Amino acid sequence: MSLLSNRNKEHQTVAKMTSHVLTTSNGNPVDNNQTSVTAGVNGPVLISDFHLIDKLAHFDRERIPERVVHAKGAGAHGYFEVTNDISKYTRADFLSEVGKRTPVFARFSTVGGEKGSADTARDPRGFAIKFYTEEGNWDMVGNNTPIFFIRDPLKFPDFIHTQKRNPQTNLKDADAFWDFLSLVPESIHQVTILFSDRGTPYVSSILIEIASWFALWRRPLMNLCNFKYVKWHFRTDQGIRNLTDAEAVKLNGENPDHATEDLFNAIERGDFPSWSVFVQIMEPKDAETYRWNIFDVTKVWPHRDYPLIPVGKLVLDRNPQNYFAETEQAAFAPSHIVPGIDVSEDRMLQGRLFSYPDTHRHRLGPNYLQIPINSPYRVKGGVANHQRDGPMTVNGNQGSAPNYEPNSFQTGPREQNIKGASLAVAVSGFTGRFTYELTDDDFVQAGNLYRVMSPGERDNLINNIVGHLKNANSTIQKRQVANFKRANAEYGKRVEEGLAAAAAAK
Ligand code: HEM
Repeated sequence: MSLLSNRNKEHQTVAKMTSHVLTTSNGNPVDNNQTSVTAGVNGPVLISDFHLIDKLAHFDRERIPERVVHAKGAGAHGYFEVTNDISKYTRADFLSEVGKRTPVFARFSTVGGEKGSADTARDPRGFAIKFYTEEGNWDMVGNNTPIFFIRDPLKFPDFIHTQKRNPQTNLKDADAFWDFLSLVPESIHQVTILFSDRGTPYVSSILIEIASWFALWRRPLMNLCNFKYVKWHFRTDQGIRNLTDAEAVKLNGENPDHATEDLFNAIERGDFPSWSVFVQIMEPKDAETYRWNIFDVTKVWPHRDYPLIPVGKLVLDRNPQNYFAETEQAAFAPSHIVPGIDVSEDRMLQGRLFSYPDTHRHRLGPNYLQIPINSPYRVKGGVANHQRDGPMTVNGNQGSAPNYEPNSFQTGPREQNIKGASLAVAVSGFTGRFTYELTDDDFVQAGNLYRVMSPGERDNLINNIVGHLKNANSTIQKRQVANFKRANAEYGKRVEEGLAAAAAAK
């Protein structure tokens, strides 16, 4: 049994032990939980009533900031098991042998909505997994689409603002939504996926693909440059089921939490969701000459060029005991990596390396990695460094060990000086702001996607786009239609006709 489940057991035991005695938070038995202490029958309440003050004051502080994106989510525990030997590509210990299991915690989410928003939203779905390896925690923070809207982190806050509420009306704003996307045409591929029925998956637990970029280094360790570019894919074993727009609207009214419920109930009844895990692997020298800039996350690596290589199985088999403690406090970051896995030069990923731990410090505090759901509990000897103190230090603060380095004591942790431990990527040139120029190539993959859709899928795509874009002003509509036409003439023309029909009907 894992340490985490042991911990859960402890929590349950504590809950059982205390269930018959109500206490204040400093452990005093409470004699009366119905009536405050007052000065006489109708007199004011007394500040000496610690139970009242303690209860109110804690209640007043119950809310922490919700995630600035991906606020609505559901999580579950499980494991990852290696099914195919890929040890020739990486020295990551958790991938070292077939059959090796690593405990995980996964969280599924929508992106733009608030914590109480509906699971039916037309939105990418987040798919974050924390692997509790013996070499520390590795977080895979991906989406259910293999690409993204933008390819430079500097645009991310602007992009997200356009998906949120208007600063004056506090309403969702179709003008802002389409204004930004039409002015950032490299978003066209992701927009095409978003407005297909893939934008409204039935449940979060059927997520199919993850766009995340990491480099695995290859053995032997001594060879610094021996790495490969890798994309990870988690393919559902449940089968894919998407909602049409009409079905999503109906379900939104009937049960806006349907996906959260589905995940919880499936696990409770022992129907454990699972995913087959694959990687695409690219040699660095191929990256230099490949048709697409591999650091541009608005593009996929077609499977015919880079086939999926099987790696393992992800299974979710245990619900959290407590939503806040586990799911809400879970803090995933692409910067949480383990030896054998490193980060690529992808600009978006580079921006994210800063953003996630930064927001965790804001959302959960500087000691967020001490919270049980986030702590690297499988590391032998635990976390050992020279960080100390800060709010909510709950791990013993590393006792009497020295809190500085270099030091002349033998008791503290020592750096390992492993040869080849850091990735060596050759970089050259002047620093500067190098814009990705927009070219016809930026429209090719969206056009290809439109072409492979069935007639029914195309009808739904056009209807879904028209139903939303009709709410934007006509200048923005025209600009976006031109983008669709650049991807595929028929695609753009059909959106244009749909908008004209919608305007006439109005
Ligand atoms: C959540 C930033 C792009 C996947 C978040 C959060 C931030 C953020 C601040 C909230 C984290 C928290 O409060 O715990 C960014 C920035 C991006 C970016 C700055 C681009 C520069 C992406 C991309 C993906 C992605 C491309 C997918 C490949 C996710 C997921 C979550 C998340 C899955 C939710 C994690 C959870 O369940 O707690 N992002 N993001 N993000 N992001 Fe991003």
